[in-house]
Amino acid sequence: METDKIQEIESIIRRYPAEKRYILAIMQDLQQAFNYLPKGALEKTAAHVRAPLSTVYSMATFYKAFSLKPKGKINFRVCDGTACHIKGSQVILNEICQCLDLKPGETTPDGMFSLETVNCLGACAISPVLVANQKVYAKVTPAALRKIIKEYGGKLDGTTAGE
Ligand code: FES
Repeated sequence: METDKIQEIESIIRRYPAEKRYILAIMQDLQQAFNYLPKGALEKTAAHVRAPLSTVYSMATFYKAFSLKPKGKINFRVCDGTACHIKGSQVILNEICQCLDLKPGETTPDGMFSLETVNCLGACAISPVLVANQKVYAKVTPAALRKIIKEYGGKLDGTTAGE
């Protein structure tokens, strides 16, 4: 792990008292800073609060808000709950897979995009729903989706603008 990254991890962890009840808060800050939880960060968190690594790891894998794998700068989340499914979420999902050459759970090799499916986001009235990082897109059609992908620099042929 690079020195800068180690220092950033340590400075985040040191913001919190060395108590187990702060594990979640520490991991939320780490997730926000790195867009995922690096293995070394989990080890340092466990050491800081004097908890077994297995405790920290099981919390990291339990909560969907955390990821153990690096995510893309733009993380697309396609809702595939019942309402969105009926309104065509699979079409949206397939379109993203095809446009960006990506499968759910994957990140593009340039680290630009990642894709995941989620269950109901609580916005069924505007289904099908797509979320790009924190931005919510309502009633997404394949045409709207292609505009969204372009908006974020995707080129609709499995590459990104920088390639
Ligand atoms: S099923 Fe997608 S928001 Fe509810």
